[in-house]
Amino acid sequence: MVDISTLEKMDGTLLEKAIKEAVAVNRHYLAPFTDSFRYSHSEDNFYAPSENVEWTTGFWTGELWLSYELSGDEAFKDAALKQVDSFYDRIVRKIDVEHHDMGFLYSPSCVAAYKLTGSEKARKAALMAADNLISRFQEKGQFIQAWGKVGDPKEYRLIIDCLLNLPLLFWATETTGDGKYRDIAERHFSTAIGCVLRPDDSTYHTYYFDPETGKPDRGVTAQGNRNGSAWARGQAWGIYGSALAYRHTGSDKALDVFRRSLSFFLAHLPSDVIPYWDFDFDNPSDEPRDSSALAIAICAMLEAADDIGGEEGNELRDKAGRLMAPLYEKCAVRNPEESNGLLLHGTYARKSQWNTCRNRGVDECNLWGDYYYLEALRRLKGKWEPYW
Ligand code: GLY
Repeated sequence: MVDISTLEKMDGTLLEKAIKEAVAVNRHYLAPFTDSFRYSHSEDNFYAPSENVEWTTGFWTGELWLSYELSGDEAFKDAALKQVDSFYDRIVRKIDVEHHDMGFLYSPSCVAAYKLTGSEKARKAALMAADNLISRFQEKGQFIQAWGKVGDPKEYRLIIDCLLNLPLLFWATETTGDGKYRDIAERHFSTAIGCVLRPDDSTYHTYYFDPETGKPDRGVTAQGNRNGSAWARGQAWGIYGSALAYRHTGSDKALDVFRRSLSFFLAHLPSDVIPYWDFDFDNPSDEPRDSSALAIAICAMLEAADDIGGEEGNELRDKAGRLMAPLYEKCAVRNPEESNGLLLHGTYARKSQWNTCRNRGVDECNLWGDYYYLEALRRLKGKWEPYW
């Protein structure tokens, strides 16, 4: 366990340096990644181009919006708006949208575009994505089905990651005045935290329901080390998802889940701070790290710091700044020769003897790691209107 109070904090000078370096890397690679998206993770720290497919492309567009906010450089805005056209096309033509990850795709791309530029096309695209997301809600069980064909008994489950898809629904109600989106978000949240959070404050990655009765059945991992372990990124999704639910609902339950899941996460960080991909592992271990889990947790702490305020808010902000310094020192890309991503040492999926994964993006950059690292820098710089 690491004593966070002994870590040196990222001060204003280091923050400005980190922002400058990150924006410079994104500017350097803007041209080849304007008409093209990026693959979900790098190979030898360099991303290959990709079509607008998978659950991850919204993070790259989100990075463009953050880079625009951090630099004022209109080239980022122009590129991001071009990509909004692609997201509009994707949801209209239903390209690779038969899953729940509408929030990951459409919040940092299209909700951000609408908030920053007032683009009606972006608003329309994000609302179509929200409609697609609520179409996966299962009355029997009261949850949004994560993967597969809606109603497939073999896929009758939710996954913790979905908590980050819910802000799209809160936003959809805010912008339309139609309460149906918020209602489904609240019902899913309540079901999800009722089953994924364990008594020791660790979390299950996925949870199955009985398709006949809707009763919660069993917790199973997909990307964690084993069913009963705490997958580091899953835990981070739980922390940020509950912080955002608290922001949107003010619910005591959401705040309680945030505090509990965060306390487990912080108590299980290794002494050099960067989490292993699953909390089954502690130093010394040869297992790979997942830097993205820490970036997500830092964003959650900074979000909750604003929403909770007072002494607890100050403490959260202070701890986030102390965790950010080692994240920068050990994982940040400093120049475009090193990588075309921003955050090294992430792990998309690691095969274990118990999970169903193949090795994917192990000790590499991944798009969400880059995005949340940049979001954390933006949040540390000062007040920010979240895309979530
Ligand atoms: N949402 C999928 C993942 O975190 O890998």
